[in-house]
Amino acid sequence: MELIWIVLLLIPVILLALYLKPLPKKSIKGKHVVIIGGSSGIGKSTAILAVKLGAHVTVIARNIEKLEETQQLLKTHSVNEDQVINKLSVDVCNYEDLENNLSELEMVVGPIYMLVNCAGMAICGNVEDFSLQQIKQLVDINFLGSLYSVKAIVPKFKQRREGIIVLTGSQVSLMGMYGYSIYSSVKFALRGLAESLYMEVKPFNISVTLALPPDTDTPGFESENKTKPIETKLISEVGGLVDPEVVAQKLMDDALTGKFFSYVGFESFILTTLCTGMSPFNRMIDVVFESALLGLLRIISAFYISSFASIIQKCHIDKEAVSKKK
Ligand SMILES: NC(=O)c1ccc[n+]([C@@H]2O[C@H](COP(=O)([O-])OP(=O)(O)OC[C@H]3O[C@@H](n4cnc5c(N)ncnc54)[C@H](OP(=O)(O)O)[C@@H]3O)[C@@H](O)[C@H]2O)c1
Repeated sequence: MELIWIVLLLIPVILLALYLKPLPKKSIKGKHVVIIGGSSGIGKSTAILAVKLGAHVTVIARNIEKLEETQQLLKTHSVNEDQVINKLSVDVCNYEDLENNLSELEMVVGPIYMLVNCAGMAICGNVEDFSLQQIKQLVDINFLGSLYSVKAIVPKFKQRREGIIVLTGSQVSLMGMYGYSIYSSVKFALRGLAESLYMEVKPFNISVTLALPPDTDTPGFESENKTKPIETKLISEVGGLVDPEVVAQKLMDDALTGKFFSYVGFESFILTTLCTGMSPFNRMIDVVFESALLGLLRIISAFYISSFASIIQKCHIDKEAVSKKK
């Protein structure tokens, strides 16, 4: 009888140990890493990490002054004298420019081994208030920019039968949110791109990671905040604000271990586990844990959804009261 209890206790301990066992990590030392959107925020922090790991790093963005500043900063983090720290001013939404520049870049610095696309932006608001130009801007930078970078790099990676691709979604790649109708739609589209791409490139030893940052303290977040309706602000406050260095560290660790989703924090863990669906997995043990937690997490999610709904309802009542007074 005692033996049964020991076995019953040992099973979860063994499962937990298997779950916590770290995955083997690839090295980027001496490899060429390209970071699109590397002159600010999450991309800049990721570029610093890549330099610290001994990679040759090229940062891509549009504004040349910001690129020059970043290049100088990155050089201060070099770990050896041979390291190439490069910059390139390209608009990722211009496919021909991007493809030509990446090919030239490979001739100068060497074959690209890892491509991280962090270029993106959010504008919030109610769907009817967006201009057509704003909608196009959000689709172009958040979706087409990622698709174009993938289209330009995949043939090179396939030919060499190696590579790491990181796309940057958001928590709203997995759930809709008040005020994010356009941004969330295009970030959802990135999930479809990343999941399909994962299947296409896996036989070529190429990994795909979709980063899902929470609210992160970056210049991009500062501008996004200026456009947030009160409802979005109140709901976002629940999650707090994370440093870009933390997001970048997790993104780098997950990309180098070949994880599909990269997320930070407990709330993102709940959200990502709830939304795993048909997404790729690395180990069966992860699927076992996710399956065991799904029911409970769905109940927890109901509390979040209800609290968001009551914030929205309260704001609606306040707005109606103000408009009646007028
Ligand atoms: N910060 C957050 O709270 C948060 C949360 C979830 C997801 N995300 C996502 O994470 C990514 C990075 O966000 P962030 O807050 O770090 O942004 P950020 O501080 O605004 O940095 C964006 C970077 O992308 C570059 N960029 C923008 N448009 C570009 C274009 N057309 N071509 C080439 N480069 C371009 C910018 O440089 P130039 O302007 O000079 O081109 C800059 O280097 C975005 O995809 C964002 O949607 C952010």
